[in-house]
Amino acid sequence: MALTRRFFVQEAYMPGFEVFGDEERKEVQDVLNTGVLFRYGFDQARQGHWKARQFEETFARRLGTSYCHLCSSGTAALSIALAACGVGAGDEVIVPPFTFVATIEAVLHAGAVPVFAEIDDTLCLDPNGIEPAVTPRTRAVVPVHMCGSMAKIEEIKRICDRKGLILIEDACQSVGASFKGKALGTFGRMGCFSFDPVKTITCGEGGAVVTSDKVLYAAADAYADHGHDHMGKDRGLEGHSIIGTNLRISELNAAVGVAQLGKLDAILEKQRLNKKVIKEALLSFSEVSFRNIPDQAGDSATFLSFFLPDEARAKEVAKGLGEAGVDGCFYWYDNNWHYIRRWDHFKSLSAAARLAIKDFDNCPNFMKVRLPQSDALMSRTLSMQIKLSWTEEELKQRIEKIRGVLAR
Ligand SMILES: Cc1ncc(COP(=O)(O)O)c(C=O)c1O
Repeated sequence: MALTRRFFVQEAYMPGFEVFGDEERKEVQDVLNTGVLFRYGFDQARQGHWKARQFEETFARRLGTSYCHLCSSGTAALSIALAACGVGAGDEVIVPPFTFVATIEAVLHAGAVPVFAEIDDTLCLDPNGIEPAVTPRTRAVVPVHMCGSMAKIEEIKRICDRKGLILIEDACQSVGASFKGKALGTFGRMGCFSFDPVKTITCGEGGAVVTSDKVLYAAADAYADHGHDHMGKDRGLEGHSIIGTNLRISELNAAVGVAQLGKLDAILEKQRLNKKVIKEALLSFSEVSFRNIPDQAGDSATFLSFFLPDEARAKEVAKGLGEAGVDGCFYWYDNNWHYIRRWDHFKSLSAAARLAIKDFDNCPNFMKVRLPQSDALMSRTLSMQIKLSWTEEELKQRIEKIRGVLAR
């Protein structure tokens, strides 16, 4: 599918919104024409339009898995996965310190305790860091496939299998990425995705949990809709075997997602092309080394991430890129949302209401968490967003600016 360039923005966003067009309008119009914005029921009035269901079937098929539940956000997807897998109060969950803070929020809101383990040069959870973090309370491991690429997921899965730990993948930033041909998000018991406004494909707001396990799927599907088992003919008479909540997606959001899903391959192809060109331009700079990507072919190429020799140089280059007008560059080490260093609100467990884990025996003092290996990597890391909308000329100019900054 040809991608139409719609507009160009200065903020650093993943690209789905860059290619909104007639396809999204048509899908949304279908829903508006019926007046049925709810994803369940109203069988007659909806005239055959089941956008959430359509998205779920298409997405599961694309990922090569059996089940998908589309929900209101990636954060919701994580909460649903934890709940469906039975992770809750009294449990510990091993997580990486480099993620979006939502991963940690989901663990906390489940009543469980996040336990941090180091990342490695994949910028994802280091398999070697998992076992030292395991205690008798450890229930699950949530690796995060950050910035479009993968953790050493096979090794992580082996450790989880050996230790009897539940593997839940946070693939919110890695829609369309794979490892050795298998989609990220399908290695663990459940995989979580985000389709928020700045993701590779977007629903406006949305997320998904995927699984090959029918029982987990049923629990996820029920949890996200007040426990409804969705088995009855009449919603009021449906069964409720578990307590749930409302993490539903609307048909309008799902409709946008249906159109976006149809564009995913074209988005990935363009991203990979643009990333290759920028990466090649950096190869001659001996001080630059690249993030370890365990399977290059499976990289979704939303970002180009690389290391500089030390923190001072990384800061200098980040500043230089900003001053040169190279937008979409991230120095995560100083970022408020993606690395533990700046999560003071979390470290002090500052919450609107008392968190369940405040009562937890041996609740760790998060202020004292030390992750020297992760700090050493993150303090030298820069990531560049890869956009779809760059023209050849813009890409050329961008590369000239980047090379100019690195040559200083
Ligand atoms: C790694 C990761 N996990 C979870 C989320 C949460 O997704 P959402 O914004 O859809 O709630 C995000 C969103 O940025 C993310 O990057």
